[in-house]
Amino acid sequence: MDSVSQPPLSRTPRHVIITGGAGFIGSNFVHHWCHQYPGDRVIVLDALTYAGNRANLVGLEGHANLRFVQGDICDRPLIDALLQEESVDTIVHFAAESHVDRSILGPGAFVQTNMVGTFTLLEAFRQHWNQAGQPDRYRFHHVSTDEVYGSLSPTDPAFTETTPYTPNSPYSASKAGSDHLVRAYHHTYGLPTLMTNCSNNYGAYHFPEKLIPLMCINILMGKPLPVYGDGQNVRDWLYVGDHCSAIDVVIHGGKVGETYNIGGNNEVKNIDLVYMLCDLMDELAPALPIHPARDLITFVKDRPGHDRRYAIDATKIKTELGWTPSVTVQEGLRRTVTWYLEHQDWWQPLLSQEYQEYYRKVYA
Ligand code: NAD
Ligand code: DAU
Repeated sequence: MDSVSQPPLSRTPRHVIITGGAGFIGSNFVHHWCHQYPGDRVIVLDALTYAGNRANLVGLEGHANLRFVQGDICDRPLIDALLQEESVDTIVHFAAESHVDRSILGPGAFVQTNMVGTFTLLEAFRQHWNQAGQPDRYRFHHVSTDEVYGSLSPTDPAFTETTPYTPNSPYSASKAGSDHLVRAYHHTYGLPTLMTNCSNNYGAYHFPEKLIPLMCINILMGKPLPVYGDGQNVRDWLYVGDHCSAIDVVIHGGKVGETYNIGGNNEVKNIDLVYMLCDLMDELAPALPIHPARDLITFVKDRPGHDRRYAIDATKIKTELGWTPSVTVQEGLRRTVTWYLEHQDWWQPLLSQEYQEYYRKVYA
């Protein structure tokens, strides 16, 4: 995995629960953390929904300090037991329902996991922290999204940490609700929370419902590339390895109770991103039957309530903690396309009946 930060010189090992550690970003973070801090105890807590995958943790089976627990973040007795028996001092909370299109089809699971699940973790961690005498070193790190800030026009300034919340989808509304709970637990109870709101991630182990992996796999299978609306929506692309190093920096140096925005400095229109993916595939897989891959592009009905533009102002994390992204979108996409080309054994089993049904519902 890509790891860029250096471990602090003197450091007491942490006992960390990583929720959602079998999902896309969570698993990249588990690889990052186990590589950076092999002396830490790491407990991956993941319900293994359609988006969770044990294969994302391949290579870590022999890691002596890693424990995998299949379980739900809404299961309070389970959380209480893990916090106590593992003497947990840190929670890094990724677990969520994360896909906007699925939140439009069925918002209930988003409210349950993203809001009730986050509440359950906060309550359990608060009790655990109190019972331990409120130690200074405890941390609850909540991973959130730039989507809580709403949608920008082409000329609006990028989101800062003080941009008012204006969530537009059931997904972003449920993430906003969880962010407010985290903030309130610090303000009211003094719980040592940290929060990061980041832009669109991409890289290895990305489930093929999201734009980049879906386009990569459809090109490989010679299927149409469905671009929503006019393709002019803008996202700020953040390579997942950069996101992991940013969270690491915040956990070790962030000020308790604060929020840090994380972005990639890579604003790209969707259609231009799809062109880049097509051109990379043409270069890296010249034997594919449909050539050029751009011939597969199809404009389809827009996503309801589709946010036009997201952009992150990451000045705060840069000036206060010295973090900046290290991977350009050109380099990150090249690495990602190469990864999907070399890991057909990873993505092929994900194209299950459930996936096909989901695909028909969204793209029919
Ligand atoms: P993902 O959908 O790939 O993975 C989510 C993981 O959470 C899966 O492993 C799933 O099994 C697990 N999970 C779901 N419900 C659970 C529950 N009730 N209990 C325990 N585990 C459960 O998501 P991702 O893209 O890796 O996103 C991780 C986090 O980062 C989310 O909180 C998301 O909101 C946030 N985020 C993602 C992006 C992005 O571009 N992907 C950007 C900003 C923020
Ligand atoms: O901004 C951070 C968010 O990024 C995260 O909080 C979410 O968890 C993550 O899913 C992502 O949300 P988006 O909706 O921006 O990502 P998605 O990959 O679904 O879509 C990216 C853009 O591409 C968006 O403008 C919609 C468009 N799109 C997407 C798909 C799946 C298409 O045009 N066609 C598609 O088939």
